[in-house]
Amino acid sequence: MSKLVFPASFPLTRGRRLRSQPWVRRLVAETTLTPADLVWPLILHDGKADRVPVATLPGVDRLSTAAAVEAARQARDLGIPAVALFPNIDDALKDAVGTEATNPDGLVPETLRAIKAAVPEIGVITDVALDCYTDHGHDGIVEDGRIVNDGSLERLAEQAFIHAHAGADVVAPSDMMDGRVQAIREALEANGYQNVMILSYAAKYASAFYGPYRDAVGSARALIGDKRTYQMDPANSDEALREVAMDLAEGADAVMVKPGTLYLDIIQRVRDTFSVPIFAYQVSGEYAMMQGAIDAGWLDEERAILESLGAFKRAGCSGVLTYFAPRVAEWLNR
Ligand code: PBG
Repeated sequence: MSKLVFPASFPLTRGRRLRSQPWVRRLVAETTLTPADLVWPLILHDGKADRVPVATLPGVDRLSTAAAVEAARQARDLGIPAVALFPNIDDALKDAVGTEATNPDGLVPETLRAIKAAVPEIGVITDVALDCYTDHGHDGIVEDGRIVNDGSLERLAEQAFIHAHAGADVVAPSDMMDGRVQAIREALEANGYQNVMILSYAAKYASAFYGPYRDAVGSARALIGDKRTYQMDPANSDEALREVAMDLAEGADAVMVKPGTLYLDIIQRVRDTFSVPIFAYQVSGEYAMMQGAIDAGWLDEERAILESLGAFKRAGCSGVLTYFAPRVAEWLNR
């Protein structure tokens, strides 16, 4: 960032020389994208069918536990280091405090155990938040129409403990309650899970681009109001640095910026300020926008997707959560 740029003038300097042939372009590339940069988000469901298409995410299916194990195997074979699990549970299991979130035999723990038994070498990341389990669709507990911050922490810590106990390698709190990383870290330490990592959604914005995901996990129907009292205002950037600083101080091993493409400036600022692995989530709305244009024949599939993911590496990410992961890994392995 602070490198001195030497004075360049034409014709002594010609930028095009270094772009003249494929081999030299490859040689001087400042960043590269490999399958090792990808995390594949899997949407789970507790229905009977192995796969159920998600209308708002063309090309993405909700998966049974058996299908998720198959996906984990595919990820391993493609060189994708990790999958991230998101559950769509039966509405009948949802209540005000998200009781099902801490069921040790729930959909996520059950799928975790199945994946770990069949594909032990794949990393498994779980989402810590109550929105998939509450009848109001919020990430924390609600009392008198308000999100109760401190009262939610115990539930979130218990949920993280349940995931760790079932074999999660990484727990990823996406709830945006204050103090949740500390509560989770303490619960993990106290119960013998010192090596379970915390990837905190530190800079998570109140975004319109989560719409298709909420359909996919079934929280859209439920959501009362919006998430602006806990997710960040898209107008803000300094605030993201404070959130990252807090989560690191509380024990996060790595941080996430979410959504991705519209927040590359935030990724770069976090990169310039902290020396810590950064992940981006190319969220459902970003996927849907691109896939929609690809399906309409308006964008070149491979070039558009690879360019969008390369941008995250250029901005400073260690990795990207993307629904395109298996497709991209196949192209990169060719
Ligand atoms: C919330 C959560 C969200 C996503 C993952 N976990 C967003 C939300 O509903 O607030 C979004 C992922 C996506 O859009 O792809 N726990």
